[in-house]
Amino acid sequence: MAAVGGSGEDESWLATATPATDLFDIRWSSLDKVATSDSGSAGVIFCRCASGTFVIKGCATVAQEMFSAQLARVLGIRAPRARLVSWPGNEWQMLQKHVKRHLLRRGLNDPKAATVRRKVEKELDRPHILIFGFVPGVGLDRMAPQVLAEKLKGSGGMRAIGAVCALDVILNNADRLPLLWNNNGNVANLMFCESWNQVIAIDQAAFSIPSGAGRNDYLRSVRQLCEELCVSSSTTAEAPSPTVAQMCARLRVAAAVDLDASDKGSAAPLLQEGMRSILCRAACLSSADVGILWNATDELSRAEVGGETHAWGSQMWLAPLLR
Ligand SMILES: Nc1ncnc2c1ncn2[C@@H]1O[C@H](COP(=O)(O)OP(=O)(O)O)[C@@H](O)[C@H]1O
Ligand SMILES: [Mg+2]
Repeated sequence: MAAVGGSGEDESWLATATPATDLFDIRWSSLDKVATSDSGSAGVIFCRCASGTFVIKGCATVAQEMFSAQLARVLGIRAPRARLVSWPGNEWQMLQKHVKRHLLRRGLNDPKAATVRRKVEKELDRPHILIFGFVPGVGLDRMAPQVLAEKLKGSGGMRAIGAVCALDVILNNADRLPLLWNNNGNVANLMFCESWNQVIAIDQAAFSIPSGAGRNDYLRSVRQLCEELCVSSSTTAEAPSPTVAQMCARLRVAAAVDLDASDKGSAAPLLQEGMRSILCRAACLSSADVGILWNATDELSRAEVGGETHAWGSQMWLAPLLR
């Protein structure tokens, strides 16, 4: 079950929540459940309407997250669908009205609920709100190591994680698994969904690098990685690329899971296969798919989402990677 924080009401409903299938058909007046996540920097808000459960997120990285959702879609990576609800549209007003009204009703006599209400009101106080499909799963950070190892083995999980790593390389998204970045990563941004038997990527954002030495260095690392993955392609099973072997070692630390022990040594080759297939797909995107991405950034720029530099920066900086 998604990690939820206290909102003064019974939150067990989330454990059995059914995802809404159509994010463009939300009847806000039927909203009957609201909960906040207890993880993430600002986190998300879970909502249930007549058509099912979905996630809303008010954040400063709207353009980066919208663009990333589009990129994940064209690359065929499993990630929640996303859409924007923008001020001063009718739906933006409905969202604000019904979410706030619901929380107010619940929190009249409960100080904990009042705290959640203030948090939600702060997050919603933005001109653009993201709506995501709900993933009925659990963050990898919350899974017992043996269970996680078992699940990854049986679900094409390592290949899926490799695919997500490739997405992150293209986006310069360091907030998941340490690959080209010197951080510990954050495996909470990978979820495992039992009913779909799949690993799902959440919370991806494109982080553009201003032109100059920093961007050139990054692009050089990406090129090196692509060469490394391709060079070792014929011998993947016996000897995965050093970067991939290192990735597996770091994943072992980040998710406390001994992948190789659980997967008879095939974890690294599978991860490499997943990465390589997505990097190849990105390099050969059809002009129609590239058009979809550039249209998305144009739209975001026109809506002045996240500031012109962010949306425009995503387009400019990714151009050498998505030709
Ligand atoms: N689409 C989703 N479906 C289910 N749970 C989600 C979804 N998006 C986020 N969550 C839950 O909310 C937490 C915080 O969301 P996230 O987007 O990672 O926020 P932040 O940007 O603040 O890190 C996640 O770790 C996950 O538990
Ligand atoms: Mg997160």
